[in-house]
Amino acid sequence: MKKIFVTGATGHLGSAVISKLLTEIQSKQISVLTRNSEKQKEFQAKGFHAFLGSYDDVTTLEKAMENVEVVLLISSGDQGDRMQDHKNVVDAAKKTGIKSIAYTSRCLHDRNSLVNKLMDEHFETEDYIKASGLAHTFFRNILYMDAIPQFIGGKAALDKGIFLPAGNGKVAFALRSEMGEAMAKVLLAGDCENKIYNFTGDKAYSFYDIATALSELSGNLVSYNAIDDDTFTQMMQQRNVPNASIRKIIDFITDIRHNQEQDIYDDLETVLGRKPASLKEGLKTIFGL
Ligand SMILES: NC(=O)c1ccc[n+]([C@@H]2O[C@H](COP(=O)([O-])OP(=O)(O)OC[C@H]3O[C@@H](n4cnc5c(N)ncnc54)[C@H](OP(=O)(O)O)[C@@H]3O)[C@@H](O)[C@H]2O)c1
Repeated sequence: MKKIFVTGATGHLGSAVISKLLTEIQSKQISVLTRNSEKQKEFQAKGFHAFLGSYDDVTTLEKAMENVEVVLLISSGDQGDRMQDHKNVVDAAKKTGIKSIAYTSRCLHDRNSLVNKLMDEHFETEDYIKASGLAHTFFRNILYMDAIPQFIGGKAALDKGIFLPAGNGKVAFALRSEMGEAMAKVLLAGDCENKIYNFTGDKAYSFYDIATALSELSGNLVSYNAIDDDTFTQMMQQRNVPNASIRKIIDFITDIRHNQEQDIYDDLETVLGRKPASLKEGLKTIFGL
């Protein structure tokens, strides 16, 4: 019986993966890891093998991988030492004789010209996995459409407009739930032998397009103001956003302005067997409009 170990299973992406996996395999075929004992109990009550621990808990990682064929490593957050977290999972997979590891990387145009250094870790993780000799699958996911509210300041943008230093940069946004669904389909099909899936929407959108879509959906005239980095920094400082966070956002947005997120692939559509949600369809759900 094929058994899959999913990290990040309690998160948004992991939940979407699990829910699709359960359409074809049973919970007893799925192992999960969480740092939260309540969530561990919830998973156990549903029949999953649920392990309590974090990515730096190597003993637990190895235990969770016993009798597992495939590991899905959902990338760690950017708070701690993400690269070490990932290395721990890969090393445990190698030690326990796992056949195949899948990793949620990022779909970006050129790893060598990225401004946002947090993104480098995705490609370094890919390199580390390749060097491990494990069979691997890289899910290179585009920026979540679900992250748009965080970038534009949530529903307040419907009244105040959007102010970002993103220029006319475009992003081939896709819904996190659809990327999770597609990842699960690939894992279930077992099409995991040294493959790369570039999961993007079928169109790239600028923040002008986002403003237009939100205007049509809300009935408000939502403007997009393509400001410069200094103006953006001042606006954030007035809202008491810490300088380190402002720097992170600007680095993210600079890569968008440089069109690092605009490449379009048909992998998501092919795996889903349907067109991924358009910007307007996605924003309607995300903003509840
Ligand atoms: N493509 C994009 O646009 C994009 C945007 C944002 C993030 N990401 C990446 O995609 C990942 C998944 O996204 P998401 O939306 O599902 O995130 P999320 O909802 O915040 O979920 C994060 C998951 O990671 C687990 N986790 C975090 N740190 C961990 C640690 N040290 N040890 C063990 N588990 C840990 C959490 O598990 P517990 O809390 O249960 O322990 C949780 O299940 C993120 O972590 C990030 O790397 C991608």
